[in-house]
Order: sequence, then C-alpha cells, then structure tokens
Amino acid sequence: ARRPMIAPSILSADFARLAEEAASVAGTEDSPGADWLHVDVMDNHFVPNLTLGLPVVMALRAATDIPLDCHLMIEDPERWAVGYAEAGAHNVTVHAEAAVDLLGIARDLRAAGARAGLSLKPDTPLEPYLDVLRHYDTLLVMSVEPGFGGQSFLPATLAKVRQARHLVETGHLRLLIEIDGGINAETIEEAAEAGVDCFVAGSAVYSAPDAGLAVTTLRDKAAA
Ligand code: DX5
Ligand code: ZN
Repeated sequence: ARRPMIAPSILSADFARLAEEAASVAGTEDSPGADWLHVDVMDNHFVPNLTLGLPVVMALRAATDIPLDCHLMIEDPERWAVGYAEAGAHNVTVHAEAAVDLLGIARDLRAAGARAGLSLKPDTPLEPYLDVLRHYDTLLVMSVEPGFGGQSFLPATLAKVRQARHLVETGHLRLLIEIDGGINAETIEEAAEAGVDCFVAGSAVYSAPDAGLAVTTLRDKAAA
C-alpha cells in the first residue's frame, strides 16, 4: 500500500507564531511528522480572501526543514509561480482556472527545481487537462471551494480522484494525487480509498489540542 502523506495547512495556524506552528508538526525521533507543509497563497482576486505571499514563504523556508507545498490561489500564476520555486518551495501548485500557459508554468517550475502542481476546483473536470498533466508532478483535487479553511468536504469530488488514480495505475499519467479541503478523521478514509496519496488538513490539524498527534492520527486512518 502507498504510505499516506500528510500536509498540514498553515492557513489554520497562528500566523504570529508560524515557526512554532511548523515545528509542532515536524515530528520527533520516534514519530514521523508532516510530509509537506501546505501554504495557501490567496490574492483576493482568484478567491475572495487574502493571505500571504513570497516574503512569508521565504521566512518559512528559513524557519523549517519541512518541504513547503505552495498552493497558489491567485490570478496571473505565470507571473508569480516560479518565484515560489526560487524561494525554495518543494511543490508549487497553480490553478487550471487561473492559468493561460500551463505548459510554460510546468517547465519553469521544474527548471527552478520544484515539483509542478496543477489544481482543479470542485466543478472543474479532469478531461481537458489530461495532456497537460503529463508535464506535471502533482494533481491537487479541491474538495471544497478554495478560499477558506474549515469548510465541509464535498464527497462528489472523489470521482475525480478515482479517475486520476485509474490513469496513474494504468500508466497513462505519473502524478502524485493530493486532496485539499474538509479532510479530517471522519473523511480521510473515503479519500484514501479513492486513491489519494497526499492529504492536506488545516483545521483538523491546527484546531486540534496536539497538532503533532493529529498528523499521526490522520496518517493512521488513511493507511487503515
Ligand atoms: C482552502 C485551502 C485549504 C485549507 C484547508 O482554500 O486551499 O488548504 O487550508 O482547510 P481545511 O482542512 O480546514 O478544510
Ligand atoms: Zn490549499
């Protein structure tokens, strides 16, 4: 079985204590911590919310060893994406709905040493992007409308996960399948069954009394 990856989203963390909040999910000698740290970049244009940008990602990069997973919910990703790769992000994901030059973005991200990610909002189908996905490393399936943490999981989006998993298993695509939105101890099992590799969890991790324990619990549930 695939080892489930957990990517806590710092959107639900205390922004005044980001270094400590990253450390709280970094794991210990005897328990592995977060695989990636998910960083939600919002510009108040692509989504109706504003969060953080490159300076904060650069500061986080210096403050933690956890690989950064930057989720760009922004317009004009052609202009910005490569900057996140140059800032040291491990994976940089752009939205299909916002991008014009998806091939160019993937090429630039990889050239800058990052994994290239493509995200689809809940109502965006997979089919139109099958060719372009050959040039990407990560598919991020949104299981809520992007913009805010703490929303309810949309189970219908798992159809897209199953479709992508099938294409990966049959050798048509080579992608890490990631899901984002409403993932918690109750919803993670059905997402795992559908074929998700990497689970983003914001409120389920950072609203828990012990964020590190929440990461372990989620991974165990996903592996069950
Ligand atoms: C929403 C963000 C998510 C958010 C998830 O637009 O992309 O990463 O942090 O939060 P939860 O896990 O609380 O749904
Ligand atoms: Zn996200």
